[in-house]
Amino acid sequence: MIGVKISGVGSAKPKNSVSNDDLSKVVDTSDTWILTRTGIKSRYISDGETTTSLAVRAAKKALADANITADMLDMIIVATLTPDQLMPSAACLVQKELGANNATAFDISAACSGFIFASKIARDAIRTGSNKKVLVIGVEILSKILNWKDRNTCVLFGDGAGAVVYESSAEDNILNIYTGSDGSRGSVLTLDGFPINNCLVEKEPNDYFLKMNGSEVYKFATSIVPICIENVLKGTNIEIQDIDHIVLHQANIRILDTVTTKIGLVKGDLFENLSEYGNTSAASIPIALDEAKVDFKKGEKVLLVGFGGGLTWGSILLEW
Ligand code: ACO
Repeated sequence: MIGVKISGVGSAKPKNSVSNDDLSKVVDTSDTWILTRTGIKSRYISDGETTTSLAVRAAKKALADANITADMLDMIIVATLTPDQLMPSAACLVQKELGANNATAFDISAACSGFIFASKIARDAIRTGSNKKVLVIGVEILSKILNWKDRNTCVLFGDGAGAVVYESSAEDNILNIYTGSDGSRGSVLTLDGFPINNCLVEKEPNDYFLKMNGSEVYKFATSIVPICIENVLKGTNIEIQDIDHIVLHQANIRILDTVTTKIGLVKGDLFENLSEYGNTSAASIPIALDEAKVDFKKGEKVLLVGFGGGLTWGSILLEW
């Protein structure tokens, strides 16, 4: 079997960090409410950076880390809820900016699990032998799909991008990937698309804002993460105690704390940067990986877990 490894990681964020106090001037909220309920202190918000520009910045760092040039890429997959355009895809816009002329480029939509789903496609594409180098990007400008009058949602999210290069390799460092979906529970987290509006039917456009049932999302997240961990470890001879670093989708500190207790870890065992970034959906795991990797040593076991709208979920077990 052809092995697959991560050879490069990079991330990018907009220059503006917006604090909870800054937000309390925009909506009826407070630093105390946001911090105690979510653990978020600030988030990055674009004042002009686009999904493409952030993705390209993260991608260039990942390519430099992998020590390869863009023309060596066989495939670019962008996971995002917030492309600049529906056509061309975000991946095609990134391809153009990078000059990745030999790559097949396309987007996938799996909300906060998008990076995990795209990574599975990348790994499988390399294992077939028809692709050697695949760039996966998770990127969001969530600030453009938030209702800035809705304090229930607008305080939770931020903008950012993370990118990973997967390459064929003699050693197989992607030990396992597990994914799942449940469309029947999708209504707890939604973002409407275009309604039918044509020469036969006239309809008002939707509002295009993210909507969330917070308590249902919380219940889903805290129940699915242990299942993701159990399933990705199954059949690998690796136990949770053997894992050196766990990087969860950065949604909310209460989700991280509840999961910590449920899987028998101690506070602080899970990587955390949501206090600085808020929830960046598809970008959250690759940004967190980029920041966490400074502490990784070769051969250590790393677990990535994502969960989000759809509903969708997934996990990756890596050897660094
Ligand atoms: N500032 C001040 N008050 C607020 C705010 C705010 N930003 N938002 C809500 N409130 C108020 C509500 O209006 C409500 O007031 P009321 O009691 O007078 O009606 C009160 O605070 C309590 O609201 P709840 O929704 O019950 O607050 P809760 O303690 O449940 O916390 C939260 C809400 C943080 C969203 C919680 O449900 C949660 O953690 N859910 C998980 C959601 C999540 O992480 N989503 C991320 C996106 S999804 C993903 O990544 C998978």
